[in-house]
Amino acid sequence: MARRRQIYEGKAKVLFEGPEPGTLVQYFKDDATAFNNKKKGVITGKGVLNNRISEYLMTRLGEIGVPTHFVRRLNMREQLVREVEIIPVEIVVRNIAAGTFSQRFGMAEGTQLPRSIVEYYYKSDELGDPMVSEEHVTAFGWATTQDLDDIMSMALRVNDFLTGLFLGVGLRLIDFKVEFGRLWQNDEMRIVLADEISPDCCRLWDTKTNEKLDKDRFRRDLGQVEEAYQEVARRLGILPEGGPGDVKGPKTLQ
Ligand code: TMP
Ligand code: ASP
Repeated sequence: MARRRQIYEGKAKVLFEGPEPGTLVQYFKDDATAFNNKKKGVITGKGVLNNRISEYLMTRLGEIGVPTHFVRRLNMREQLVREVEIIPVEIVVRNIAAGTFSQRFGMAEGTQLPRSIVEYYYKSDELGDPMVSEEHVTAFGWATTQDLDDIMSMALRVNDFLTGLFLGVGLRLIDFKVEFGRLWQNDEMRIVLADEISPDCCRLWDTKTNEKLDKDRFRRDLGQVEEAYQEVARRLGILPEGGPGDVKGPKTLQ
C-alpha cells in the first residue's frame, strides 16, 4: 500500500494514484461504519468480498451497456478504475420499503412500493447526507437537469438488471445506493457509474426466508455479518472455493 500516492481515504475504501494517467487504484478495507460514522467496526474479509462482488456486478452492467469506471480487478483487495469527478449526490433506488424510508413514511419494512422510487441525498458526512430534491441538485450546480436525466435512466436500468440478476440467485433487491462520476475523454464528458456495488450499499433479502444478507446485519447487530457477505458472493458464484483463481459463474435457482 505504501508504494502508491494516496489520493483519498473514505470510510470503506482508499483511492491511490493508478499506474497510468487517468486511472486510480481502489482499495477495499474491512472497516464498516453506519449512521454516518456513529457506529464503527470491522467486518473481517469484507474488503476482499466487496472487491469481488463489485467487480462482478460492474462487469455484468458493462456488458449490457451501462458505462462504469471499472477497468479490472488487480488483486484480492484492489481494482483499477478510471479517474472520475464524483458527483456529490447519492442516488438511492427503492423497490420495497425499508430503513429510513420505512421510518419517514411509517411504512412496515417489506411493503412493496407502487413503483421503484429514486431519491437523492447530498454526499456530506458533516451534514449526515441530507435528502435533497432535483431543485437543490441543479441550483447548487452539482449536476444539470440533463445530467440528472442520464443518471435517473442509468439508475433505473441498473435496478432492473440487478433485480433480475439477484432474483436468479434467490435474493430480493430491496434498495441500493449508487454514485456517478464525470469521465473526461478528449474534452468530452460522460457520466459513468462509479464507487462500488456491494452488500455495503444494497439491501438483499433471501427470497424464501426474508433473511437479511447485507450491511443491516452490522447496523442492527444481527450477527453473522461476514457470513452474509460470503453468502452473497457464494450465490453469485464468485466465492473462491479452491483459491483466488477458482471463479465460477452464478448458480441459477429453479
Ligand atoms: P437508508 O434506508 O438507510 O436510507 O438506505 C437506503 C439504501 O442506501 C440502503 O441499501 C443502504 C444504502 N446506503 C448507503 O449505501 N450509504 C449511505 O450512506 C446510506 C444512508 C444508505
Ligand atoms: N455508509 C454510511 C455510514 O457510514 C451509512 C450507512 O451505510 O448506514 O455512516
